[in-house]
Amino acid sequence: MLLFRTIAGIRCYLAQHQLTKKVGLVPTMGALHVGHLSLIQRARRENDIVIVSIFVNPLQFGPNEDFQQYPRQLQQDSQLCEQAGVDAIFAPTDAEMVGGNNQELMGNGQGNQAPITTTVVPPAAMTSVLCGRSRIGHFQGVATVVTKLLNAIQPERAYFGEKDAQQLAIIRRLVADLKIPVEIVGCPIVREASGLACSSRNQYLTSQQREQAQGLYQGLLQAEKAFRAGECDRTRLVDVVQKKLAKFLDIEIEYIELVDPNTLTPLDKVEDVGLIAIAARLGSTRLIDNVILRNRQPIVAIDGPAGAGKSTVTRLVAEVLGLLYLDTGAMYRAVTWLVLQSGIAVDDAAAIAELVSQCQIRFVGNGKDSISPQIWINGHDVTQAIRSLKVTEQVSAIAALPSVRRELVRQQQSIGKKGGVVAEGRDIGTHVFPDAELKIFLTASVEERARRRYQELINQGQEDVSLEQLQQAIMERDTRDSTRALAPLQQADDAIVIQTDGLSITEVSDRIVSMYHQKLSEPG
Ligand code: PAJ
Repeated sequence: MLLFRTIAGIRCYLAQHQLTKKVGLVPTMGALHVGHLSLIQRARRENDIVIVSIFVNPLQFGPNEDFQQYPRQLQQDSQLCEQAGVDAIFAPTDAEMVGGNNQELMGNGQGNQAPITTTVVPPAAMTSVLCGRSRIGHFQGVATVVTKLLNAIQPERAYFGEKDAQQLAIIRRLVADLKIPVEIVGCPIVREASGLACSSRNQYLTSQQREQAQGLYQGLLQAEKAFRAGECDRTRLVDVVQKKLAKFLDIEIEYIELVDPNTLTPLDKVEDVGLIAIAARLGSTRLIDNVILRNRQPIVAIDGPAGAGKSTVTRLVAEVLGLLYLDTGAMYRAVTWLVLQSGIAVDDAAAIAELVSQCQIRFVGNGKDSISPQIWINGHDVTQAIRSLKVTEQVSAIAALPSVRRELVRQQQSIGKKGGVVAEGRDIGTHVFPDAELKIFLTASVEERARRRYQELINQGQEDVSLEQLQQAIMERDTRDSTRALAPLQQADDAIVIQTDGLSITEVSDRIVSMYHQKLSEPG
């Protein structure tokens, strides 16, 4: 593993690789713990090169905050990174990142000393709420340094924790508004066994305070329980948290609020989704935590290698459960139809990117009454047209374009906003719907998949391939699918594996349906 102190160094290192390799960046302030490691592991799975930045950013600390005491333990952090398979740490000096020395920069948040660097100013509506109310200038400091990191490293993806939900929302907005070409990946909160969210600042807690700190999550869990029982009203949800927290006498609440997790605007009630966020003090240590409350039907994500029976099973599961079969394959076909229709050459990636970024795909009719929904693109019903030979011939080439994939994932996520969707693919549970309620990884041995394919071909009257040839082809396809640059096959950590050897389509579907019902009946 390499360590760079300067932008010149890391840029030169990246220049040697970046044309062909995807870079994932995990920005941190060091004192790494399992929360950070979960981001690093995700980045490791999804990229060729993983960079962890470690920089205790003076711009985001107020004058009375813990900048001086903040734990700095580069050696230990380096060991953890090395073990986690990180390629390089970027640990710049203050001068490299923000110019000048700490003393000049401290307290810029109070406006009593002009910052000596250009500052990125996110919308006030997002920075003046929640933690922004007491941490004046904090999010400008975060936004400034994150922008610099993204510009210096130009990663394909950057990873942030949902623990800092306000930070995540602001960074998503910043990247969208400033058109920074990076994918921001939000990662779930990692907790200690007690429920306390892992944080570098937990080091400051005495054992008694640590005991009390569990109260934050317990309060949030209580609100989640009330929400599941039908409570959507802000006052009552906040009240539930407050009552629980009152039992933990050392906790000094700074705020408990219900906001929209994307815009951070206060909500009177949860419609689709709400974020309950808490900040509190235990002695002089400030802790934050949150939960997301989602008012949606579950999402079922089914991934797995080619030939495991995914599409047939997915269609059947959707039918039985009365949910929308989100036929992602049909979406790629619809876009291909649109490209062919518009007369754009299929190798004109730029023109296709422009066309696709403005298209709108809809599924019309779903659920029990209509097993196969119609698919519409830009106001045209293309349900039949997308099955034409011409579309079939071109769909792989079009689907391999990163711009097409990006836009379609965005539209899939938007269709899935209200839940009630069953989708299949290679990375639905890891990338498209990482918060799907039920994730299935459907697989079968190479021999079994070859046997099924062989039978299909025989049934179609094609008898000129051997089982061995099919096995070879399937193994090659598996390798291609798990190593491809775009949307490689990935098994989510929390996916349930179903080995389908010797099982019929109905048996597999029945298992998934019963898992779904079980999930629905589980508390929490
Ligand atoms: P830091 O507090 O070191 O956190 C680095 C990243 O780890 C953040 O994205 C944070 O949300 C994530 N993280 C921390 N604890 C976590 C947990 N328990 N579960 C999941 N993710 C967790 O956040 C910062 O640094 C800085 O503000 C930074 C973005 C690096 C800018 O200076």
